[in-house]
Amino acid sequence: MPKIGDIQLPDFPLLLAPMEDVSDPPFRALCKEQGADVVYTEFISSEGLIRDAAKSVMKLDIYEKERPVGIQIFGANLDSMLQSVEIVEKSRPDIIDINFGCPVKKVVSKGAGAGILKDIDLMVSLTKAMVEHTKLPVTVKTRLGWDESSIKIVEVAERLQDVGCQAIAIHGRTRAQMYKGNANWEPIAKVKNNQRMHIPVFGNGDVDSPEAAVKMRDEYGLDGAMIGRASIGYPWFFKEVKHFFETGTHADPPTMVERVEAARRHLQMSIDWKGEKLGVFETRRHYTNYFKGVPNFKPYRMKMVTSDESEDVFAAFDEVLEIFGDFQFAT
Ligand SMILES: Cc1cc2nc3c(=O)[nH]c(=O)nc-3n(C[C@H](O)[C@H](O)[C@H](O)COP(=O)(O)O)c2cc1C
Repeated sequence: MPKIGDIQLPDFPLLLAPMEDVSDPPFRALCKEQGADVVYTEFISSEGLIRDAAKSVMKLDIYEKERPVGIQIFGANLDSMLQSVEIVEKSRPDIIDINFGCPVKKVVSKGAGAGILKDIDLMVSLTKAMVEHTKLPVTVKTRLGWDESSIKIVEVAERLQDVGCQAIAIHGRTRAQMYKGNANWEPIAKVKNNQRMHIPVFGNGDVDSPEAAVKMRDEYGLDGAMIGRASIGYPWFFKEVKHFFETGTHADPPTMVERVEAARRHLQMSIDWKGEKLGVFETRRHYTNYFKGVPNFKPYRMKMVTSDESEDVFAAFDEVLEIFGDFQFAT
């Protein structure tokens, strides 16, 4: 069974992917309750942490109940990355993860995120220096390569392992693909099949059904699945995948009562954590998925996503329960 450093994981663990503005403490806590084995923070700028930018520092908050948790940082400057390791350590995460996969221009143009895929030597030396600078396990999340013609992920993964990286999560797309096309898990399987690899190799990209997770495990032989978009507004995804692994059947979907309860807790935790205004605002993105498939739901969704006061959002939840309480969701 895979281990990240000393952290023992179950067979084929399910990891909650780092997602900007999504993977915050309340959402991570809900995913953890529903079976996520490891959760990650969204990416945090090393430069922001050093400047003590309030927004970056807030992203370091973790709840005890979500462990094991990885804090993900990004940057391309060695000094900044090492200084931010020291800052991150104060939050006592279980893992420090390095983002070498973010494809967005503002990150890539500074040579960070997936930008580093153009300079593999720097990617390896940064990882090495970070490993040497902390006692925490350091993991890497990356993509297949910069573009189709530069996929060297087998060699890259081996080099990262050799400098002490403790696990690697690979999104089966290149930077050039951004989010287009289908994720290709073949090159990830090649990384896993490299006889020299002994650290866990986690697959990422398009695990959007229990069947896809089984495929990643059984046909591609990977050590675990990192799950992003399928969990947004649907933390039950982890439990449903595990149910499918155990029984070969689909779990019943969460009832309306369970969905409203989750939405309510999500909002309350967000308010407790970030305050009324930001809590109300930032939980909005999750509601569409919480209530996906409910007919004639638009007026209620609109109330949830346009109300500025939590009181009104909570009232909309009550109304939904009253009107749609018996609604049967499709499996
Ligand atoms: C809204 C959003 C935000 C993301 N933010 C991050 C991030 O902060 N760090 C990171 O490594 N990847 C980030 N990603 C990429 C995901 O972690 C993941 O690699 C990608 O979505 C593919 O997995 P999926 O098909 O399961 O969603 C983000 C993806 C989405 C959709």
